[in-house]
Amino acid sequence: MSPLIRPCQIDDLDRIQAIYAHHVLTGTGTFELDPPSRAEIETRWRAVVSAGWPWLVAEADGAVLGYAYAGPFRARAAYAHTVEDSIYLDLRAQGRGLGKALLFALMAAAREAGAREMLAVIGDSQNRASINLHKACGFRSVGAFERVGFKFDRWLDIVLMQSSLRPEDTN
Ligand SMILES: CC(C)(COP(=O)(O)OP(=O)(O)OC[C@H]1O[C@@H](n2cnc3c(N)ncnc32)[C@H](O)[C@@H]1OP(=O)(O)O)[C@@H](O)C(=O)NCCC(=O)NCCS
Repeated sequence: MSPLIRPCQIDDLDRIQAIYAHHVLTGTGTFELDPPSRAEIETRWRAVVSAGWPWLVAEADGAVLGYAYAGPFRARAAYAHTVEDSIYLDLRAQGRGLGKALLFALMAAAREAGAREMLAVIGDSQNRASINLHKACGFRSVGAFERVGFKFDRWLDIVLMQSSLRPEDTN
């Protein structure tokens, strides 16, 4: 069955908390060290959707396999049309094209919601899955900050990538 991509509902948050907790505890894609609680995930979800930005999940056979959302890049007012994406899949759902489907859907939804630029701040310059995912979705590399994170006894870079969601807006 091909996965359904749809807006996140409150009942999805338990699964989202579990998926994200796994990546916090085992990966360098996120620089969080302690998994946020279900209540904290709900606070983050409410902040994204109440600001009018998309938070999507991919579901198959009734199970949430992953999620992606577009949040504000920074709070200051002039950043209002720039969002940053976040995307996390269940380990068993990775490497099968689902990330690409979810990120393309998120880009379309963010554009629809009024975003002009989407940024990816990718934890760890060795995170080939995330870098290649963003490349495959048309993001270009715009730089990196080196050794700005420290996790699992390793100094970590962040890779910065960007996609213009409204390339027709040239001014
Ligand atoms: C990053 C992530 C969302 C990508 O989703 P995915 O479903 O695994 O990726 P896809 O199968 O859609 O592949 C997308 C592209 O990345 C490439 N790719 C996927 N996994 C890869 C890997 N482990 N190494 C190198 N390239 C990889 C694919 O070949 C594909 O490129 P192509 O279309 O040019 O062939 C997923 O792997 C994940 O949840 N990783 C852990 C959490 C994480 O790092 N999130 C991002 C935080 S910045």
